[in-house]
Amino acid sequence: MKKMMKQLIPAVLATVLVLAAATVGVAGSHGTHKEQKTGILLVAFGSSEPGAQVSFENIDAKVKAAWPDIPVYWAYTSRIIRHKLARQGKHLDSPAMALARMADEQFTHVAVQSLHTIAGAEYHDLTRVVGAFKSMGDFDQIILGHPLLATQTAMEKAVDALFEMIPEKRKKQEAVVFMGHGTHHPANAFYPALMFQAQQRDPLVFIGAVEGYPEIDEIHSWLAEKKINTVWLLPFMSVAGDHAKNDMAGDEADSWKSILSEAGIACHTVMKGTAEYDSFVDIWLSHLEEVLHHFD
Ligand code: CO
Repeated sequence: MKKMMKQLIPAVLATVLVLAAATVGVAGSHGTHKEQKTGILLVAFGSSEPGAQVSFENIDAKVKAAWPDIPVYWAYTSRIIRHKLARQGKHLDSPAMALARMADEQFTHVAVQSLHTIAGAEYHDLTRVVGAFKSMGDFDQIILGHPLLATQTAMEKAVDALFEMIPEKRKKQEAVVFMGHGTHHPANAFYPALMFQAQQRDPLVFIGAVEGYPEIDEIHSWLAEKKINTVWLLPFMSVAGDHAKNDMAGDEADSWKSILSEAGIACHTVMKGTAEYDSFVDIWLSHLEEVLHHFD
């Protein structure tokens, strides 16, 4: 019996503490009814390349034009990039910092829109931050929108958008190779899934990854199999930043351009990130629209 009491006491104490915390939570709001205040938080990986800012400015302008009455905030998930920008005097919030700011400014409904390409590691970290704010109860509603590649509808729109990126000068027998970022995360499978769907329309369109599957060696062997002698290289990343500049189109021996050129394949490069194209931005915006629709 004594032993049982000993086991019970911590349980009772824990319950009392939880109840006390809940009471403080209610008292903390002073029982006042807040007016609905909706905000948008756009979350990108980030880029420190000044040239890459065009992509973010394009998205920012499109979101503000679509929802002129809703304040728009930004956050970058990459700490390295935020710190690099800070040294240049540019301050950018992390998602948690931005949400804390929005809570302080008494937003009640927050639409967090991921500007990532896939639901990889960065996106999953973001789901945890959004989940934490949800459980803290600062907002009446906080919802996270899908990244670019998500539902089958979005995948089909992404295939259309990929084809819109291909320059008109490209001839039918020339291959098109997109460079995705890639990841160790299971969501890397979205790249070959998108390539499969793109190849239903044009078998000479390839999507590789600089840090995932398929790698340039695999892409190269497929190009060789098809006896391709000219390739168009394009980034499949929201910004044409460091990877596009160096790993894709750079002059170093291990860039995709160098590897393919070395193998006798002529390379044309296009330096424009997906977020510079309306057809891609529209996909992210459709995910945001879906989130805002929940608030109505
Ligand atoms: Co990278």
